[in-house]
This record gives sequence, C-alpha cells and structure tokens, in this order.
Amino acid sequence: MPVIVMASPKGGVGKSTCAVLLASEFARMGADVTVLDCDPNKSLSRWASHGLPTGVSLKSEVGRSEVVPVIRSADGDGKIVIVDLEGVASQLVSRAISHADLVIVPMQPTALDAEIGSEALALVREEEEALARSIRHAVVLTKTTAAVKSRVQKELEEQLREAGIDLIEPPLVARAAFSELFAYGGDLTTMMKDPEMVTGGRIDKALNNAQAFTEAVYERLK
Ligand SMILES: Nc1ncnc2c1ncn2[C@@H]1O[C@H](COP(=O)(O)OP(=O)(O)O)[C@@H](O)[C@H]1O
Ligand SMILES: [Mg+2]
Repeated sequence: MPVIVMASPKGGVGKSTCAVLLASEFARMGADVTVLDCDPNKSLSRWASHGLPTGVSLKSEVGRSEVVPVIRSADGDGKIVIVDLEGVASQLVSRAISHADLVIVPMQPTALDAEIGSEALALVREEEEALARSIRHAVVLTKTTAAVKSRVQKELEEQLREAGIDLIEPPLVARAAFSELFAYGGDLTTMMKDPEMVTGGRIDKALNNAQAFTEAVYERLK
C-alpha cells in the first residue's frame, strides 16, 4: 500500500538514486515494487533499460494527468509504489505529494542545498494545508563523506532537528557504486557478483548503506 515520493525542487540531489536503492532493497525484502518515472529526464527509465531487479516494475513517462490514476492502479495489498519526480515545483509534483504516505526529501550537506531543500519542505506544507491533513515527510542527507562529518553537515542536522524535521539515519554516503548503478542497471547485489565490477569500488559498503537506509524508511511506513 505505501506510496513513497521523492521530492526536491533541485536536480542532482539524489532523488533518482534514492528511488533506485529503495526499489531494489524493498524488492529484495520480498515486496512487489512499482516505480513511476515522472521525470522527463528519464533517469529511472534509463536505469531500467539495463535490466530491472526481480520484483520491480517500472511505469515510464508518467505525466501530470496520469500520475494519480497510475498511483491508484499500481497500489494494492503488499505493494510499494515509488515515485521519482523532476527537480522542479509543478502541478505534477504537488499531485504526487498529495498522494504520498511518505515524502522523502534528499539534501546534500551544502549551504545552498539546505536552502533549496527547505523549499521542498515548504511544498509539502502547502499540500498539507490544501488537504487539511498531515503528510509524513523526512529528509535524507545524500553524498555525505564516509569518514568524518563535515561542519556543514553537522550544522544542517542541527537546524533540521531544531525545526522538528524528521531526519533519516543513516545518510547516503557518496559512493561510486551508487552512481555506477544507473549505467549498470539491476541492483547492487547483481553488480557485486560481476567479477568486472567487484574490483571497482566498495560495493559491499554501498549495499550496507542502502540496506540501513531502506530499513529506516520501512520503519516510517508502519
Ligand atoms: N550517494 C551517492 N553517491 C555517489 N553518487 C551519487 C549519490 N547520490 C547521487 N549520486 C550521483 O549524483 C547525480 C545526481 O543524482 P540523482 O539521483 O540523479 O539526483 P536527482 O534525481 O535529484 O536529480 C547522479 O550522477 C548520481 O549518480
Ligand atoms: Mg532524478
């Protein structure tokens, strides 16, 4: 039943990456996942063209007039719907947010991204006001450094906490395996089994990160 929507008016923050990781990990947990590619840049469709993980299906080129009916038709018992959006504020984005059980707002720990991220949170608030109900939402920090937290990241976490915004732990660390996934298709486990890929980066660490992130999201759907 849950509908998870990735939203941020900024491009390049990690919406599509979050969508791919959640779809793959929920499918590995046994869920029947449908991903809606609502972004004209078609990141998700490109990923899918290299092969979808078992348990994941994709609806591509979902536009403003299709988004609600497609969400409704994909939704059902034991199913998870994941909506990937373009980095804009639009009627399509608003419609998707208004049908979400959980909105995930990815943010990079830079001052500029934090500002734009707060616009994404404002977008959720507008929908909440229009519908006179609350829409669960949470921020996830993306492309963070693996070793030590940057000063900006610490400050941003503090700001979010003070504002009472739900922050998903762990953040998604900057890892080559996450970006390679788009060109490779499938999920991190298939990539791990490929002898040509194993030597490349730390896929195991990326996989652990993706799993812990997915579990944290799962907790918010209960
Ligand atoms: N955690 C990460 N580690 C490494 N690269 C990342 C990570 N998150 C995103 N990227 C890369 O950054 C770029 C933008 O990410 P993407 O998920 O497409 O953002 P959006 O959908 O918000 O535009 C892509 O090239 C993607 O591969
Ligand atoms: Mg995208």
